[in-house]
Amino acid sequence: MSNQHSALSRLLVTKPLDALLHESQETGEHSLKRALGPVNLITLGIGAIIGAGIFVLTGAAAANYAGPAIMLSFVLAGIACVFAGLCYAEFASLIPIAGSAYTYGYATLGELFAWIIGWDLILEYAFGAATVSSGWSGYFLSLMNDLGVHISPALTASPGTMLVQMPNGNWEHLSRMMNTIQAMGLDPASLPQMAASFNLVAFLAILAVTTILVIGIKESANFNSAIVIVKLAIVLVFIGIVGWYVLQNPEKTIDLNWKNFIPANTGEWGHFGWSGIARAAGVIFFAYIGFDAVSTAAQEAKNPQKDMPIGILGSLAICTVLYIIVSGLLTAVVPYTSLNVAEPVAVGIDATGVKWGSYLVKTGAIFGLGTVMLVMLLGQSRVFYSMSRDGLLPKWAGKVHPKFRTPYISTITVGIFVAFFGALLPIGILGELVSIGTLLAFVIVCAGVWILRVRRPDLNRPFKTPWVPFVPIMGIIVSGLLMASLPFDTWLRLVVWLVVGLVIYFTYGRHHSAFRLK
Ligand code: ALA
Repeated sequence: MSNQHSALSRLLVTKPLDALLHESQETGEHSLKRALGPVNLITLGIGAIIGAGIFVLTGAAAANYAGPAIMLSFVLAGIACVFAGLCYAEFASLIPIAGSAYTYGYATLGELFAWIIGWDLILEYAFGAATVSSGWSGYFLSLMNDLGVHISPALTASPGTMLVQMPNGNWEHLSRMMNTIQAMGLDPASLPQMAASFNLVAFLAILAVTTILVIGIKESANFNSAIVIVKLAIVLVFIGIVGWYVLQNPEKTIDLNWKNFIPANTGEWGHFGWSGIARAAGVIFFAYIGFDAVSTAAQEAKNPQKDMPIGILGSLAICTVLYIIVSGLLTAVVPYTSLNVAEPVAVGIDATGVKWGSYLVKTGAIFGLGTVMLVMLLGQSRVFYSMSRDGLLPKWAGKVHPKFRTPYISTITVGIFVAFFGALLPIGILGELVSIGTLLAFVIVCAGVWILRVRRPDLNRPFKTPWVPFVPIMGIIVSGLLMASLPFDTWLRLVVWLVVGLVIYFTYGRHHSAFRLK
């Protein structure tokens, strides 16, 4: 009995907060460089947030699940993020350490949970970067097609994706083109078709971003800031052009396309109607992911106690407003049924007849999605860095480059894996897996804030989540509902992933942990 008891307490050992706070104050050549101020952190957040979610996944989610009511899905997912964001902000200012939710879990719920979160965060960051690389390839190929540059179609999508050559000569995804082909009065079987074998474009994009990350955080932060400005400008240009057009032509746009604002449910759960709004919220939740990635840069922030909450909540607030406007305009300017494409935002602007707008959006998306991959991969390597310092992963994962001061080995290893995932798996599967994994991390972080308030009311919290336990409980409930709205297959993948993680923990991490009771 007492043996069992001690085995359990070893699994639930927490990392002492004093050790964590001490770690956060370390300096020297094995530590990360403190270079980021509040504006850098907000831009880092926006750099991570605005990406494949709004530029790509919104289209399919509106076309398949919610119709124009996708706007409500954005409101719903935004609410979940505000609750979770308030909890992240408390932790990030209290424990400003690179590991984000992983570290918070270690300090509150114990080692086993910390491992589960760390493993789960791989779904968020590494698979998140892979999802974005896949979305990036869609915009890149579309722009290349516009410019008359044709890349061998077999190398433009994940294996098995059926491609079709449209009458204009461009190769497109068959499943996305069905409506268009039928509208043209053509038989899809009469057009040339082929199956793709590898998404080389997504693969190379990840390798390029990995190289930038190895060179260094400050350089990456500057690069990031410049592109975030471009990305924000593109979103505002979209809002300006499409908003003006909709106002000028309400009878051709909003009156027509919003007539059926919440399309009737098809009889299947999740396909339109209220359940469709919920499912679309689970899918486009992906669009909000990234504000929490700000917390992984805590050890590189100059003044983390004050600036972490500003970075997290500021970037989240800005993006929520933009998303609701963009999704509303997109479904107003074109019928939602035509949005199941690789570049829906460009299709929206095309409908206004402003051709340069479409080129601008594509170019902006290409650079903009680049920053998302950058922050996601940055977050991933920092989580590995923290886990390796705690002994749950081998020492090499935390090795910092003597000249660049970046965790280069984990960055390169992660980069290679992610490049393959992005090249081999379709964006829909990747995106839903990332959403469910991140929502699970949110649930645990919200619970952690509440637990730590009860256990250690004495701690000095530079930022306090308001209305505890109401806010954490709401964070848990809304995130849980979004998880529940995702398909069964996605749940299955999550469970398999967590089981694999537990096997690794029980065969490696548990025996090498730096903090377990001896
Ligand atoms: N929120 C990020 C995106 O939409 C992950 O690409």
